[in-house]
Amino acid sequence: MRDVGIIGLGKYLPPKSLTNKDLEKMVDTTDEWIITRTGIKERRIAPKDVACSDLATEAARSALKDANLKPEELGLIIVATITSDMQFPSTSCLLQKKLGAKNACCFDISAACTGFIYALVTAKQFISSGAYKNVLVVGAEKLTGMVDWKDRSTCVLFGDGAGACILAPSGQRKLVSEYLASDGEGSDLLKVPAGGSLLPTSFETVKNRLHFLQMQGNEVFKIAVKVMAEAADMAIKRAGLECRDIKLLIPHQANLRILMAVAKKMGLSEDRLFLNVEKYGNMSAASTAVALCEAYEENRVKQGEYVVLVAFGSGLTWGACVIKW
Ligand code: UT7
Repeated sequence: MRDVGIIGLGKYLPPKSLTNKDLEKMVDTTDEWIITRTGIKERRIAPKDVACSDLATEAARSALKDANLKPEELGLIIVATITSDMQFPSTSCLLQKKLGAKNACCFDISAACTGFIYALVTAKQFISSGAYKNVLVVGAEKLTGMVDWKDRSTCVLFGDGAGACILAPSGQRKLVSEYLASDGEGSDLLKVPAGGSLLPTSFETVKNRLHFLQMQGNEVFKIAVKVMAEAADMAIKRAGLECRDIKLLIPHQANLRILMAVAKKMGLSEDRLFLNVEKYGNMSAASTAVALCEAYEENRVKQGEYVVLVAFGSGLTWGACVIKW
C-alpha cells in the first residue's frame, strides 16, 4: 500500500458578499441574532448563471497550478456536492469537460457536509491500491440556489464556494488515518424533500416549497457537537495519537457555537481551531475543502505537524481524517 498525500490545494469563492445587514432587508432577522447564534457575518453568493461546476472548475484550476500538474495528468476526479448542476450527468463529468481532463474517470459523492472527507478517504483507497496516481478531489456547492429565502431559520446560514485538492502517492501532507460514519435514522432532520423519485417535481411540490432545504436546526446542533468530537477522537486514536499532538482542528464551518463546543469537548484551545465561518457561512461539502486550503495559504501548520479535518451533515453522515503536514 502506497502513502497518499496532498500535493496541491486551491479554492474559489464568488466575489459577491451578502451581509447580515442585507438579510435584514429580506427576512425578519437581525445582524445581532445571526452573529450571536451562528458567528456568521457574511456569505458569498454566486451569480444566477454560475453553476456548481463553474465554482469547482476555478478551485480545481488553482489546485492543479499549485501541484504543477496539467489536467490531462489526472486519472480520477471526485466531486463532493449536494448542489450538482443537474440531476445527471454528474458534476464531476461536467468539471472534466471544463478542465479538459480527458484521461480522468469521474464520479460524484453525496454525503452532504461530510462529502469532502468521504471523497478524500475514497480517493486515498484508489491511490494506495495503485489503481490511480493523480486524483482531483473537489468540494463545491451553490447552496444559495437551494435555500428558501422566505425561511429565516435557514437562509441566513448558507453560502457558495469550492475547494479542491490533488492527491497522489506522496509523503507530503500524508493522509494518516480516517473515521467515517452514517445514521440514516436521522435522514429527516436535514433534507430537500422533493425533486427525486419519492416526490417528483410537480405543481404541488413547487407550490409547497418542497424543493428547498429544510432543517430541524436544534436537533442537528446537538448531534453535531457530540459526533464531531467523537469522530475527531476516533481518527486521532487510529493514527496512534492523542489530542495534545494535534496542531490544528479544521472543522466543517456550520456554526461558531458548535465549533467552540467541539473544541471544548476535545480540550483544544481556540488557537488550535481553524475558523472562517464568519466570512463564508456554511458551504456544506465546500466548507472543509476551503478551510483546508486557507489553513495552507495562511501557513497555519508546519511540516511534520498534525491536522484533523472533521465534519457532520445530512444523511446523517460524519467523519474525520488526520493529515501529517
Ligand atoms: O451543515 C450541517 C450541519 N448543520 C448544522 O450544524 C446547523 C445546526 N443548527 C444550528 O446552527 C442552529 O440550530 C441554528 C443557527 C439553525 C438555530 O439556532 P438556535 O439557537 O438553535 O435557534 P432556534 O432554532 O432554537 O430558534 C430560537 C428562536 C426562535 O424563536 P422563538 O420560537 O424562540 O420565538 C426562532 O424562530 O430564534 C428564532 N429564529 C430567528 N430569529 C431571528 C430562527 N432563525 C432566526 C433568524 N433571525 N434568522
